[in-house]
Amino acid sequence: MPTTLSHLTFIVKDLDRSAQFFKTIFDAKEVYSSGPKTFSLSQEKFFLIGSLWLCIMQGEPLAERTYNHTAFKIQESDFDEYLARIKDSGAEIKPERPRVPGEGRSIYFYDFDNHLFELHAGTLAERLDCYAQSRIYDPFYSEENQARLARSIADAEAGKVTIHELIED
Ligand SMILES: [Fe+2]
Repeated sequence: MPTTLSHLTFIVKDLDRSAQFFKTIFDAKEVYSSGPKTFSLSQEKFFLIGSLWLCIMQGEPLAERTYNHTAFKIQESDFDEYLARIKDSGAEIKPERPRVPGEGRSIYFYDFDNHLFELHAGTLAERLDCYAQSRIYDPFYSEENQARLARSIADAEAGKVTIHELIED
């Protein structure tokens, strides 16, 4: 099993613009810049975000946006500070998806090359707990209904279903 995340690499159109993006929002510290002399496929810069090794390499940006994303943990108390940084960076903030109560706040935003990032204030343990608790918000949730649903699915999978004819007037 791999021990930990080694590094993240993002392909960007403009190295300097993206360097500023990561510095402004993530407090990224630049530790290497290839300049025109490259050892890899193209010009690149390395950063540290905390202890995370992040690379950006010059190249063509993603052709389209998807929900694939990279999420960083932030403290809930720093939420507004990060929102201001993202706005300062010129990044485009994406409207938040619907969330169940207790899921933890998030900011989603795109860089200049169609990469989606998230700053999230929650943890995995909180997320799992909130999904388990969210059943109580479902007005139709009950152990009895869940058991009935499970029986219906098992019957359908076993072919024990009644097909009703559609009666037309
Ligand atoms: Fe996420």
